[in-house]
Amino acid sequence: MTYDKLWKLAKPYYMRGRPNDVAHVEWMLEAGIEVCKHEKIDDTLFLPLIILHDIGYAEVGKGNSFALDRRKEHMKIGANIAKELLEKLSYPSAKVEKIAYYVGVHDNWALDEYSVYKDSLLAAFTDLDFLWMATPKGFEVVRKELRYTRERMITFLAKDKKHIKAPFATETTKNMYHDLMNSLRTQTD
Ligand SMILES: [Fe+2]
Ligand SMILES: [Fe+2]
Repeated sequence: MTYDKLWKLAKPYYMRGRPNDVAHVEWMLEAGIEVCKHEKIDDTLFLPLIILHDIGYAEVGKGNSFALDRRKEHMKIGANIAKELLEKLSYPSAKVEKIAYYVGVHDNWALDEYSVYKDSLLAAFTDLDFLWMATPKGFEVVRKELRYTRERMITFLAKDKKHIKAPFATETTKNMYHDLMNSLRTQTD
């Protein structure tokens, strides 16, 4: 199945949310399809999760996306919107529940709560969410938000506690990380 219908429903929310989230989700969706080709991951959960995960930012107001209260809010609100949109498409109810749950906890790392990533689907998801920051576009978006130099941003990506607390969960996402980092490092300023 393609997820065009779901993305069509979700996109207007993202256009009201953070400025670069349409590009963020579109990159993750493409990468997610690639991951599902090589890994044993249920794409009927994984791809809707990607499409819906940050949808809650449509309703939490503007501000620093690294602020903890906004973070919590976008997960809570996002889980409800996710449910609503999936139900609109008559998605199987057990899957709706599961996806809404995932949306509701997807950024738990920001609360220093890593146990949810024992679920291999959520682990691969958070790999991609992190990897966006190493893509040419995501790198610049986050670097500017954090006011980091290029060099500091590369160090941040290489040393983030993700590598210890929720290491890359699949060969595919691990390879993506190495490829993206290599091209960041070889790029001349
Ligand atoms: Fe998020
Ligand atoms: Fe995200």
